[in-house]
Amino acid sequence: MNTAIYPGSFDPVTYGHLDIIERSAQMADHLIVGVLKNNTKEPMFTVEERLEMLREETGRYANVEIRAFDGLLADFARDCGAKVIIRGLRAVTDFEYELQMAQTNRKLAPELDTIFLATDLRYAYLSSSIVKEVAYWHGDIRAFVTPYVAERIREKI
Ligand code: PNS
Repeated sequence: MNTAIYPGSFDPVTYGHLDIIERSAQMADHLIVGVLKNNTKEPMFTVEERLEMLREETGRYANVEIRAFDGLLADFARDCGAKVIIRGLRAVTDFEYELQMAQTNRKLAPELDTIFLATDLRYAYLSSSIVKEVAYWHGDIRAFVTPYVAERIREKI
């Protein structure tokens, strides 16, 4: 696996994402974390803020690069020279959508393959939406995100 892409919204990055990044960075020579700009969902953080948080949390990995992208993931992968997309699978409920995305991406760019990593059991329930929901109601989010990200969420709220 030379260059791989781990794409997502990362609004914001959670311990679940960081676990996938750490594991993928051990498998790929170069891992590009692609942050989607043109998300249809209304994000809590701007793309610059999401990039900043990811850079802060992944700075210790020499082969990890954080980049924003717009438009189709298949085009971004081509521009990056990546042939592998990495996605985390939490539960069987993720599978249908993920399979559809993987197959669409292969149709758009036949040289692209998607590799699914099983989310660590510690983070199986975790999503950025859940973190924002708990934070909104002033719940404890320390088990979900790093102290730095938790502070950024608190500032927003
Ligand atoms: O973290 P998310 O929100 O689950 O990530 C979804 C993401 C960014 C991987 C997906 O929405 C995406 O790739 N969007 C780019 C547009 C695209 O390529 N769509 C066609 C593939 S179905």
